[in-house]
Amino acid sequence: MKTENNNQRGFWGSRLGFILAASGSAVGLGNIWKFPYIVGQNGGGAFVLIYLACILVIGTPIMLAEFTLGRKTQLNPVGAFDQIRPKSAWVGIGYMGVLAGFFILSFYGVVGGWTFAYVVKALTGAVLAFPSPKEAGAFFEIFIGNTGEVIFYHALFMGTCIAIVLRGVHGGIEKACNVLMPTLVIILFLLMFRSLTLDGAMQGVAFYLTPDFSKISANVVLIALGQAFFSLSLGMGCMITYGGYLSQKENLTSSTIYVVMFDTLIALLVGMVIFPAVFAMGLEPTEGPGLVFSVLPTVFAGMPLGQGVAVIFFILLAIAAITSGISLLEVVVAYFIDQLGWERKRAVLIVGGAIFAFGVPSGLSFGILADVKLLGMNFFEHVDNLASNYFLPLGGMFTAIFVGWVWGTQNAHQEIEKHENKFGFPWAQCWEFLIRYVTPVAVGIVFVAKILP
Ligand code: PFF
Repeated sequence: MKTENNNQRGFWGSRLGFILAASGSAVGLGNIWKFPYIVGQNGGGAFVLIYLACILVIGTPIMLAEFTLGRKTQLNPVGAFDQIRPKSAWVGIGYMGVLAGFFILSFYGVVGGWTFAYVVKALTGAVLAFPSPKEAGAFFEIFIGNTGEVIFYHALFMGTCIAIVLRGVHGGIEKACNVLMPTLVIILFLLMFRSLTLDGAMQGVAFYLTPDFSKISANVVLIALGQAFFSLSLGMGCMITYGGYLSQKENLTSSTIYVVMFDTLIALLVGMVIFPAVFAMGLEPTEGPGLVFSVLPTVFAGMPLGQGVAVIFFILLAIAAITSGISLLEVVVAYFIDQLGWERKRAVLIVGGAIFAFGVPSGLSFGILADVKLLGMNFFEHVDNLASNYFLPLGGMFTAIFVGWVWGTQNAHQEIEKHENKFGFPWAQCWEFLIRYVTPVAVGIVFVAKILP
């Protein structure tokens, strides 16, 4: 039997453990912090429909491609491409993925730190002291500009991710997700119940569920696609890495469907928590990135049992951030373990420390470094923009081309159908068509549209 002592790489202990861990990677700040505010800014229900289409047509096929590549090669993204096409330019996609993991975690850890701080500030009642989002927003801005506090919580967040990933895939990541993911679902249902039973909640439900197609533009489609990639943790080999710890018997197609459904349902449920509450309190859903940190505290302050609700909401946000943060860390760590032969402990400590250090200027981007801007963006925004808007879509597109045309769908089929797992008509044909034609072309169009002025 494999143990983590004689295998620095690791493995999942059970199918459920894998699905929870992969869902834990997918469900994160992208679902709880980003999804509601971009729905709010981009027209509610109509945006939600476009997002769902992107998930179905582009996200799902790429996730299956990533799991398949990972299970086939049992390696990190660099090793995976290198095993199939040794020393070719394709290996560059793997490197871009590892670098994306490094970059994303560097600023993700900063926002993760904010969520930790807000758990504490909800417990002390500090965030509930404001009558309007304006004052709560000012409080938030002062907080994210405070060097000492931001760095302290950033370090705490990264320290937590490091402590979990140090314990390995099965003993650390899987065990943590087995507890944290069900907790997250329970908290979400409690919050939804509270939100939907507020007076005036139905207006929010209507905003969220009634599509107004006049709000849809090319740019809105771009935003929806980018969000689909980020939310499903695609385009940087995270799902290649997680797929690499899977046993040969696992059914890859049903695993993909579970993870996609889990991530999508959580995002939809979060909308059901936030919009009813925002409308019930007579506030605006178009607030932007401050929605969760400045509008919601005002909402909580105005509702019965508000402080308790605030505390559990920010715990929810922190849990979601941790289970995604550990997956980002694991991608970079797996590269050092597989490719450079490092021990897990050394890899986690050095990589985790380096990512923290690189994240420090992002943490200070709303404080002492706020005026240091290049092309109108601060350090945090540059790292986010580069990784999320360039590396992820490019990585996703090239992964689709690689699996569809270079490695070939026939080889992928064989991997998917191992151990009597069926991938028959019409799903196999459907996937083949999507991964070879639809996905690369759609992402290509979106990408070109994005870089054009
Ligand atoms: N999917 C995560 C979220 O929605 O917050 C973010 C993320 C995690 C992106 C892991 C990419 C990744 F590889």
